[in-house]
Amino acid sequence: MANIPQDEGRGNFGSLIGFVMAGAGSAIGLGNIWRFPYVTGESGGAAFLVIYLAFVLLIGVPVIYAELAMGRASQRNPVGAFAALGPKEGGNPWVAVGGLGVITGFAILAFYSVVAGWTLGYVGMAFGGTFAGGVTAEQSGAIFGGFVANPVWAVALTASFLVLTALVVRGGVQKGIERATSILMPVFLILLVLLAGRALTLPGAMAGVEFLFLPDFSKITPTVVLNALGQALFSLSLGMGAMITYGSYLDRTQSMPFAGATVALFDTGIAILAGLIIFPALYAAGVKPEDGGAGLVFVVMPTIFEAMPLGNVFAIAFYVLLATAALTSTVSLLEVIVSYLVDEQGLGREAAVWGTTAACLALALPSALSVGAVDQLSSLPGLGMSFLDLQDLIWGNYSLSIGALLICIFAGWVWGVQPAVDEMTRSGHDLPASAVWGFLVRYVCPVAIAGLLVYITYNLVTGA
Ligand code: PHE
Repeated sequence: MANIPQDEGRGNFGSLIGFVMAGAGSAIGLGNIWRFPYVTGESGGAAFLVIYLAFVLLIGVPVIYAELAMGRASQRNPVGAFAALGPKEGGNPWVAVGGLGVITGFAILAFYSVVAGWTLGYVGMAFGGTFAGGVTAEQSGAIFGGFVANPVWAVALTASFLVLTALVVRGGVQKGIERATSILMPVFLILLVLLAGRALTLPGAMAGVEFLFLPDFSKITPTVVLNALGQALFSLSLGMGAMITYGSYLDRTQSMPFAGATVALFDTGIAILAGLIIFPALYAAGVKPEDGGAGLVFVVMPTIFEAMPLGNVFAIAFYVLLATAALTSTVSLLEVIVSYLVDEQGLGREAAVWGTTAACLALALPSALSVGAVDQLSSLPGLGMSFLDLQDLIWGNYSLSIGALLICIFAGWVWGVQPAVDEMTRSGHDLPASAVWGFLVRYVCPVAIAGLLVYITYNLVTGA
């Protein structure tokens, strides 16, 4: 079993908690706080949540184990993992799946850093007292609209966020990633619980809770189902090899079953917690969930702080922690690309980090300018959506779904269920129901994902 020795020079997470924090740090980010509420709002609320949770359990959890096992077994980045574990003779087409993962990571980083840049801007505004004394939903909407439409700010903040990410990744896995997340993630959790407490006791908050938990299944359409799958994968950082890369840093003496389950649990818990803040606050402020769009969290949150003692302190803390959560996610995205360039292309870490950062900024520019700064980008001709939304749709929904589909087929049929389960349990910790895992990755996940992709493409083409 131990064909590929653990690479000592590679740098491991120092402890299991360290890994869980970093894995959860990758998973927890803007996906939970920014994307989950607005996609849920647009997709009908509770009915969407039910499908999302089903996908997390039936597709997300099996894929997280597949990726972690591939990473630890191969001690490689996504491309290297497919190369090491795939067929040795007659060419190995699976390497291309790893390549798609690296490209997807790059493209996601390019639009994610735009939204992450907004969080930095909001840190600044909170410090400057923009929200002190309270703002209405209308005022908050106007502040957001004016802010994101400013091209100088949009570009400068995106660039700043990319540079911050580069500085962390440059430091290497353990020093850079583990230390920051182990402290800040627990603080973030506590703050979210406090904010949920405040939001839930606002007048009219119950309507928001009903929206999130009382399903109306008539709202389900193919697009809603694709959104749910995309959101489950995006939020858990799956389908592009981030968890392959992080799995390669997980020490072999540590329990993979525990690591995977905890990351999935934390991530899903935080998304629901975010919903319990945003939707009650939304109804309390008299805004409809489906009208929120990509600015939802940025518009709604300032209306909550006003109703709290020490509101501005909470505002500052919230945006600082949101920016940090985003940073631990962008770090995992950049790390995938950098580990590929270092392992496979022989680049030095420093050159890989800065080269990727510069290229990513170039791709980020049209996204940064597409939320009001440049009209043609804000509403793309013929599509009516912004460049940023289009990137999110292509890479965050389609590409991750295709990636997850191919990862399941690879782990279940090419590499094989037995070697994968051996890797998962090699620390001596059992994976309960490992037979169920095999069944899910071999049959359920591929059929479900492929079926959905065919269905949605058919609907797109026929214009239904
Ligand atoms: N999971 C991260 C979030 O929710 C985003 C992400 C996607 C990170 C894919 C890495 C890979 O914010």
